[in-house]
Amino acid sequence: MHILLMGPPGAGKGTQAANLVTEFGIPHISTGDMFRAAVKEGTELGKQAKACMDAGKLVPDEVTIGIVRERLAKDDCKKGFILDGFPRTVEQADALDGIMKDLGLSITRVLNINVPAEDLIERAVGRRICKKCGATYHVKFHPSKAEGVCDACGGELYQRADDSAETMKNRLAVYEDSTRPLIEYYKKAGVYTEVDGRQAIDAVTKGLVEALKS
Ligand code: AP5
Ligand code: MG
Ligand code: ZN
Repeated sequence: MHILLMGPPGAGKGTQAANLVTEFGIPHISTGDMFRAAVKEGTELGKQAKACMDAGKLVPDEVTIGIVRERLAKDDCKKGFILDGFPRTVEQADALDGIMKDLGLSITRVLNINVPAEDLIERAVGRRICKKCGATYHVKFHPSKAEGVCDACGGELYQRADDSAETMKNRLAVYEDSTRPLIEYYKKAGVYTEVDGRQAIDAVTKGLVEALKS
């Protein structure tokens, strides 16, 4: 099963990907997570990515396509993957078609988590992430039992640098300009399904799993 998980910033891609990993046992590949790992390691890629991410802009296509091409060539992707946050431009989508063709694979389904813009800033600003295991919480919608502490591993929770209301405005504008056109792209390809992301987290997961099993 080779799945693309799409949706605007803060729609719940990472949250849902974690649930789909539990359901299907295939790797979760998030370009955002890969860039944040590179920032932490202080690599050249990390430096370049940080400047783009902090401004709420996209990392250049050629850089992003390169890291995805490398990652999808790894053995664990043969049994399937959940790609989160890639592609985000038509150029990336065209490149992905080429990569999949080279690997002899095809996209099973594109799942778009649809959430209206007015909900997204609140979702991002209230998001908290575990430093140790990466689990995602929300101060209002999905709080940890003890404030600032991960339920799963006891790790400390932090806020992403790009989760301010200010940066979210840029991220949403970039989504509208560059990424929303991909909805038509994948509708035309006949692999597109939309799920209402305003529902509770478990209800969204149920919708996604049903879409994949149908
Ligand atoms: P990335 O990390 O991918 O960020 P994003 O797309 O903006 O999406 P988010 O991770 O912010 O949100 P999400 O949809 O995963 O939501 P989550 O599940 O956490 O990318 C970051 C940056 O990296 C980009 O801006 C760009 O610079 C760069 N980049 C990445 N990919 C790139 C690419 N392909 N090309 C170029 N540049 C790229 O949920 C959000 C919050 O809501 C959480 O607190 C969660 O608990 C809560 N929540 C989730 N579901 C629900 C629900 N159903 N109800 C209520 N609350 C919910
Ligand atoms: Mg995410
Ligand atoms: Zn944790």
